[in-house]
Amino acid sequence: MSNTHNLASRHPPNFVEAKNTRQKSRAAGLDPNRWYAVEYDNAIKKGQITEVVFWNLPIALYRGEDGLLAAVQNRCPHRQLKLSHGAVENCQLRCAYHGWAFNREGWLVDFSHDSFGKPLLKKQLRTYPVAIRYGLIWVFPGDPEKAESVEIPNIPELEGDDPWASVTVDFTWNTHHSMVIDNVCDFAHAFLHRKYRPFTDAKLRHFESDDNRVFLSYDTFVGGGRFSGMFVDRERINTKSIDLCYEYPYQWSDTGGKIKHWCFLLPIGERKTRVFFVFYFDAFKIPLTSLKTPKWLTQTVLRIASPLLLKPILLEDGIALEAEQEGYDEFWDAPPIELNPVVPLFQQLTAHKWEAYLQSQEKLNTIGA
Ligand code: FES
Ligand SMILES: [Fe+2]
Repeated sequence: MSNTHNLASRHPPNFVEAKNTRQKSRAAGLDPNRWYAVEYDNAIKKGQITEVVFWNLPIALYRGEDGLLAAVQNRCPHRQLKLSHGAVENCQLRCAYHGWAFNREGWLVDFSHDSFGKPLLKKQLRTYPVAIRYGLIWVFPGDPEKAESVEIPNIPELEGDDPWASVTVDFTWNTHHSMVIDNVCDFAHAFLHRKYRPFTDAKLRHFESDDNRVFLSYDTFVGGGRFSGMFVDRERINTKSIDLCYEYPYQWSDTGGKIKHWCFLLPIGERKTRVFFVFYFDAFKIPLTSLKTPKWLTQTVLRIASPLLLKPILLEDGIALEAEQEGYDEFWDAPPIELNPVVPLFQQLTAHKWEAYLQSQEKLNTIGA
């Protein structure tokens, strides 16, 4: 066999071909029967349309003139054009090519070239449940009948009359979603962040897992950077440990009950993931005093810290993750060396959930056959 052939035929295994848990997790999707954050609420104005993709499934997301959102299959049933090339008219979506229009429920409601007869459309467009929460648009890409019984993560600190100060940042990384989970929960990579020092000297103190989550705690020094260190209130907050959780398919952290985040993944494809990080803080300390920042100041500090601190740290993660994906694409069959005992648990959870989803689909197909 020539070298060229060897190189060309080497590609990471798909889920069925995968030989170990790590390979399985790197090929797995995320269960579509969950809610996924897909876009910022304020990114789609009335009359605007955009495409969002969930695990290679293109969805047209638009906002009607009445302000309500809709998510439909992004494919005109006529000549398969993406409906996101089209236009929103009142509360309908009109295809760019022959001008067929669909309502929010996916029904064809208007077609302009009727001198050729009425289109025999047996099926409506597929539609997807949509919701808005925490300033984000959420879509349920799976079976719409299940949407009601599945919850969007509950963040009580961001609800009510007096929500905590918060900021949301997002990134689209050329990496598999399972690598993002490994990254955000594995504090062995303090070296990558040696400039900003968001966590140092992490020691895994405790971990436990069940069918839906992997929970872990580290003893570590949180927020040790020069800038963040000035604002972190160490008198009121225990910054010597952090709890983290892979709460499938989401992830969160909690430092002393006062500094928290959720991470919402949108798996776009095998090598592309959009990640929304929602950070929320009870309060900071006014530098050189022991005074707690009032809400408005906490929000201002957070707004300033976001481009100066949060984003640069996460950009470092993004660079490492994209490089890890490139490494995996080439060396996927190298034996895994993993020192952190929780990392295989994340991978196991991702792989098990995907396996269960695929099996449920198979069952449905057998019943339907
Ligand atoms: S391709 Fe959409 S109306 Fe013809
Ligand atoms: Fe990191």
